[in-house]
Amino acid sequence: MTVRSKNIINKNIYLSNKTPLAMQYLGGKGRIVNEILEGIKDNFGVLPNFVDLFAGSGVVSYHAQQKGYTVFANDIQPYSSTVLNSLLKYSTTGIDNIIIILKRVKDEQLFSNFRESYFDDYLSEKSFISDMKNGNFNWSNYKNFCEGTTLFSGFKKDEIEIKKHESWNLYLSYYRNTYFGVKQCAEIDYLKELSNQLDKNMQMHLEACVISSMTYCVSSTTHLAQYLKPSSKRNATNLLKRRSLSIIDAVIEKLELLTYLHRPKYGEVLNLDFKIALEKIPLNKSCVIYADPPYFKEHYSRYYHILDTFVLYDYPELTYNKRMQKTTSGRYRENRIVSDFGKKSLVYKAFDDLCDSCVKYGNKLAISYASSSLVSYEYIHELAQSKNLYMKTLEFDLVHSGQGQARHKKVTEYLFLLSNEKF
Ligand SMILES: C[S@@+](CC[C@H](N)C(=O)[O-])C[C@H]1O[C@@H](n2cnc3c(N)ncnc32)[C@H](O)[C@@H]1O
Repeated sequence: MTVRSKNIINKNIYLSNKTPLAMQYLGGKGRIVNEILEGIKDNFGVLPNFVDLFAGSGVVSYHAQQKGYTVFANDIQPYSSTVLNSLLKYSTTGIDNIIIILKRVKDEQLFSNFRESYFDDYLSEKSFISDMKNGNFNWSNYKNFCEGTTLFSGFKKDEIEIKKHESWNLYLSYYRNTYFGVKQCAEIDYLKELSNQLDKNMQMHLEACVISSMTYCVSSTTHLAQYLKPSSKRNATNLLKRRSLSIIDAVIEKLELLTYLHRPKYGEVLNLDFKIALEKIPLNKSCVIYADPPYFKEHYSRYYHILDTFVLYDYPELTYNKRMQKTTSGRYRENRIVSDFGKKSLVYKAFDDLCDSCVKYGNKLAISYASSSLVSYEYIHELAQSKNLYMKTLEFDLVHSGQGQARHKKVTEYLFLLSNEKF
């Protein structure tokens, strides 16, 4: 009894500082979430409702909810919506039962039914991992093993066939030895199959934990747009170390953290384009909208396509490189979501729409944006003036990751605070 309560206190301290479903996420605000929430409270006072319009990993929504706000969290990407639902909305009662199931999973289950034909690849991977641990790793054999992997083409015509004849082996057939190792792909497919047998609450938590774990176990740098290949002994060793991480173990750890989750109030989650979300959420003077839109021209749907595919599990058609006459090397899904904030021609109008909410509904608005982004500080300033909005700006100095490259960029992260009333 004593040991358990001590544990709970430790977990509470942990949870108060971190998000239980932490993700490696581009533009994630984990490092400055406290400053953002303090900045909002100091300038706008204590308001009951918090709208996180581009919620991403959910770290800001989670902390806002912990501080007592009623939170409305929105993001256009399906993987984000799953994480947000688990963090903010769905009941956690019953998670212990999934943990028990996962602690008992055997290799035979991972490689059963439609996954059975990949068992030999798993044995080869296992033997490379054991050689690596014993100091006998032949990295060029591992390179040949990876390069010799035959993956599903992702062509439209084959997609129809695979959907008819296969099930619960999407990651093995599309992605083994690319973004994940062989066993990791089997684990991901097994977890999706298991999730399909659970009720909606448990499904949401299990899938959210898989998504969060995938961002840490993936064979790539900071994002999931391209995977690493074995190109030297050092690099192949690092890659295999990553691939020896168990997704199921990572998921168990995250599920355990969720069992300690305490939510003062349940939140609402939407999976919409921000303009539609602005129409659906009941906005008024008692709301603050926190807007953290993308600030670079690449789209989240490209960086995190592999997470969306886990949620949709639709054996997708993959993008085709016409010049190379083959599936693109990143193996992206076709028909990805394209955001206005990633397009120079649309981003100015998108900011205009955001500011209009203050004019129309009288809500407060806090926008996070980086100095290195598509739209300048001056533009936002002029926009606010043109709409007769009061504006203050807070600045935080941050170092942005070089996304796998040695160079890290120093940027100023702005928090633009806007209101139609003086503050
Ligand atoms: C900078 S990230 C937000 C990060 C988040 N604040 C966090 O700390 O994790 C921007 C988010 O905007 C989402 N997004 C992009 N375009 C959108 C749109 N048109 N409507 C809603 N969400 C969008 C992306 O999916 C991404 O999660």
